[in-house]
Amino acid sequence: MGKKVTVVGAGFYGSTTAQRLAEYDVFDTVVITDIVEGKPAGLALDLNQSRAVEGFETKLVGVTTGPNGEGYEAIEGSDVVVVTAGLPRKPGMSRMDLLETNAKIVRQVSENVAKYAPSAVVIVVSNPLDEMTALAQLATQFPRNRVLGQAGMLDTARFTNFVAEALGVPVKSVRTLTLGSHGDTMVPVPSRSTVDGKPLRDVMSAEQIEDLVVKTRNGGAELVALLKTGSAYYAPSAAAARMARAVAEDSGAVMPVCAWVDGEYGISGVYLGVEAEIGAQGVKRVVETDLDADELAALKEAAEAVRAKQADVAAM
Ligand code: LAC
Repeated sequence: MGKKVTVVGAGFYGSTTAQRLAEYDVFDTVVITDIVEGKPAGLALDLNQSRAVEGFETKLVGVTTGPNGEGYEAIEGSDVVVVTAGLPRKPGMSRMDLLETNAKIVRQVSENVAKYAPSAVVIVVSNPLDEMTALAQLATQFPRNRVLGQAGMLDTARFTNFVAEALGVPVKSVRTLTLGSHGDTMVPVPSRSTVDGKPLRDVMSAEQIEDLVVKTRNGGAELVALLKTGSAYYAPSAAAARMARAVAEDSGAVMPVCAWVDGEYGISGVYLGVEAEIGAQGVKRVVETDLDADELAALKEAAEAVRAKQADVAAM
């Protein structure tokens, strides 16, 4: 049977994710939903009209959903659901400032996803990311491997881009890694980063690396300040769409994602940014990698920071 993916939320993040998913031409159907009347239907119509030019057969369906789950029948049978619902940051806000507002939205969406697409893999992108991912698992009651969050792919892509620009080399020469939270306790991992196979630390000074680490950690906020309304969506949607595709194709690709950690790195019982193998059931396994002592300490610190907040969302 052909694959079906749903994107909840037709803002910029949701609509660009839907576009990327459709243009892969590997899904039968991409459903896009929103609470705004007409908007998802309009976007779907527009995207469907691009099929003849871009040359893809995937059909888009746009549905407006209501407070009591009206419209959610459209997501039935989805293999993957990408949850982008919620408010983005305004200039000066931290992702954590969105906690209470987005918790209400993500809980309601998750309950409807559980009801109408009970075997889907859920990919959460709403902020604050690590907390909203934990909340989606609680609200859906899905097995933890079937709920994951998108952040590490984005943060890693930002780090890679900054390194490539600073050195004037192609992005494809650069490999980086970012773990931890999608927030203040983000953990870029220089020890696992390379340029043409050479350790990053051999081609850049510690000071230069630290500058790019800080830039990566502030990558989202820098964009929010420039855009004035809304937050980033091109790089975020690229990352989320690749994850959804890995699930649909059961590819086994290893990606940095927000996943349930159960003993890896000596950390347990928390959703945290780690590398994981992605397949039809979501996270197949968390892939543990060698870290320097200071990177491991930072990852543990991130785990404790998000653990405290994830406990709070249980009551929201
Ligand atoms: C960012 C938002 C999407 O990092 O979290 O741009």
